Amino acid sequence: YVERTLAIIKPDAVHKAEEIEDIILRSGFAILQKRRVHLTPEQASDFYAEHYGKLFFASLVAYMSSGPVIALVIAKDQAISYWRELIGPTNTIKARQTHPDCLRAIYGTDDQRNALHGSESFTASEREIRFFFPDSIIEPVPVGQ
Ligand code: CMP
Repeated sequence: YVERTLAIIKPDAVHKAEEIEDIILRSGFAILQKRRVHLTPEQASDFYAEHYGKLFFASLVAYMSSGPVIALVIAKDQAISYWRELIGPTNTIKARQTHPDCLRAIYGTDDQRNALHGSESFTASEREIRFFFPDSIIEPVPVGQ
């Protein structure tokens, strides 16, 4: 069934946003909402709160607030798992070895600067969509997109 997920084009890949959005559309997703936003370190910490305490947390927050990101609500049949499959493994270096066609292999740099984010579950997608689009009215996903 058709679901929504949150995609983020991270600071290191924003210069390739048009190209990436093209791939998103050609992969059968509808782009329902889009916002370019420069997160403060506080906002980045909130977004990644589940990683608080990990060794990479501080540098993740610095990276995600180092420049604007583009947040997209995208929709498709099984969007959550399909988008994560399309972006590929978290670590760009490993992604290049095992999934050379995935978007992180193409646009990412290393284990942290991996160009793209995708919600990992339905619960996460709801929270993450609300994080970037707090005012949006949650309507049923349009049929036929
Ligand atoms: P993302 O899928 O957005 O979710 C958490 C982010 O933390 C991840 O992408 C990477 O950008 C970053 N990350 C995850 N693991 C590591 C790691 N081992 N070292 C550095 N950054 C990481």
